[in-house]
Amino acid sequence: MQIRKLTLNEEPPIKLLLLADPSEKLVREYVSRGECFVAEMDHKIVGVYVLLPTRPETVELVNIAVMESEQDKGIGKILVKDAIHKATAQGYKTIEVGTGNSSIGQLALYQKCGFRMTGIDQDFFIRHYSEEIFENGIQCRDMVRLFQDL
Ligand code: COA
Repeated sequence: MQIRKLTLNEEPPIKLLLLADPSEKLVREYVSRGECFVAEMDHKIVGVYVLLPTRPETVELVNIAVMESEQDKGIGKILVKDAIHKATAQGYKTIEVGTGNSSIGQLALYQKCGFRMTGIDQDFFIRHYSEEIFENGIQCRDMVRLFQDL
């Protein structure tokens, strides 16, 4: 598998990006403001993530997604580690990520990659999404914020 930066004239893999965030408007905004990286196997895009600069020396990992048929094979972990590596190489001092209170697998993945919880943005998903979201039998209401010093 190869991970490379999406070039400016390439269309971002929207279907894949929408797995991580249902709002196409937000996804396109993240991609235009940040750097989009894609993971390819046999010239096919199987994973994606975006590094979005937020505050000085801080970058946020947003929109990480792995194609459904390729999930649970370790690709997500490789992508998170690659994001940490790239953020470090680019001189950032902190990397952040946010996920839903109901996103049990994602919370496990980020903590296995060294992220620690720093706060909760209560009712974030109630305020920003019109549809109710349920995962693992839990309503997704709050955004759990995680960070890692680089
Ligand atoms: N309890 C404990 N560990 C769990 C877990 C659980 N319930 N669910 C997942 N994990 C662990 C896995 O065991 C694995 O760790 P390990 O390698 O130490 O065993 C790790 O989390 C992730 O596994 P991996 O196979 O690398 O992840 P993936 O390729 O399936 O990708 C996502 C993970 C989240 C990117 C993928 O599921 C996806 O695209 N989801 C839809 C989009 C999305 O939700 N994006 C994130 C938005 S915040």
